[in-house]
Amino acid sequence: HAAEANRTDLMTITRFVLNEQSKYPESRGDFTILLSNIVLGCKFVCAAVNKAGLAKLIGLAGETNVQGEEQKKLDVLSNDVFVKALISSGRTCILVSEEDEQATFVEPSRRGRYAVVFDPLDGSSNIDCGVSIGTIFGIYMVKDSIEPTLDEVLQPGKNMVAAGYCMYGSSCTFVLSTGAGVNGFTLDPSLGEFILTHPDIKIPKKGNIYSVNEGNAKNWDGPTAKYVERCKFPKDGSSPKSLRYVGSMVADVHRTLLYGGIFLYPADKKSPNGKLRVLYEVFPMSFLLEQAGGQAFTGKQRALDLVPNEIHERSPIFLGSYEDVEEVKALYAAED
Ligand code: AHG
Ligand code: MN
Ligand code: MN
Ligand code: MN
Repeated sequence: HAAEANRTDLMTITRFVLNEQSKYPESRGDFTILLSNIVLGCKFVCAAVNKAGLAKLIGLAGETNVQGEEQKKLDVLSNDVFVKALISSGRTCILVSEEDEQATFVEPSRRGRYAVVFDPLDGSSNIDCGVSIGTIFGIYMVKDSIEPTLDEVLQPGKNMVAAGYCMYGSSCTFVLSTGAGVNGFTLDPSLGEFILTHPDIKIPKKGNIYSVNEGNAKNWDGPTAKYVERCKFPKDGSSPKSLRYVGSMVADVHRTLLYGGIFLYPADKKSPNGKLRVLYEVFPMSFLLEQAGGQAFTGKQRALDLVPNEIHERSPIFLGSYEDVEEVKALYAAED
């Protein structure tokens, strides 16, 4: 009977957030409205990704972004959709996107109390071959929404009020934290609703999967090289870890969150700050991993303590199961 009740007791993401919000009597529903616009953007991108091959949406857009990357058509399309959805929510005052060199300051009549930093399409190199890609976002509450400045988003990740991602894979999965744990929702295309399927996600304390681009091994620093060596040739006679690397951060982090283990994008001689961008890749994923009982480390400090100086800044990142990241921290500490 309980299963029957559950089947008709649809916990949609909107209802879930409203439940959360009811804990804050003073809240005015702004966050719920903001989130519903982010969810709308994700539903649009999910539909576009699923028909990309048919709708001639794969391939290059013919532009290059501030990262020096050739933009794919879906990069540009998803960026446009999210910028418009966020502005139309009337709840944002600053937007930072991977695809836009400058931050967007929302015009005064449409300003709200939130700043949103986002990677509209993560894993672009995987679009044309149909491998999972995603959207990543982080949300700050601004102090001054009347005359907001860039300082509102040059804040450590620990100041975020929420973070999440949507993965466009075999199913469309939305993972969210508002600072009270992590919950996963799966899109039911027949309803057009995200339904709670992964309540209160907790990452295993230790895992047996490591996830890194081994192709960069030549340029790694000592501690990273030592850690990966240990994954492959454990000294204590335990079995080696498996290597899983998709090349889309959302897919690699989602698997790490559910199965345990560690995801690394370390610094290397070519890129001393690694590759992943602090505001809209490192911070949101670190926020989620900590909320799920794991941790996130830059090689120097707790990732969420980092204070960014510019909006497209990069940082090395080691995130995942608590004990696995502890091992990396010990190797870097021994280096100091
Ligand atoms: P994006 O497509 O948003 O630019 O991000 C790509 C990132 C991230 O998704 C992934 O973890 C990483 O690039 C993979 O980089 P390598 O191909 O160098 O391993
Ligand atoms: Mn990119
Ligand atoms: Mn990305
Ligand atoms: Mn991207």
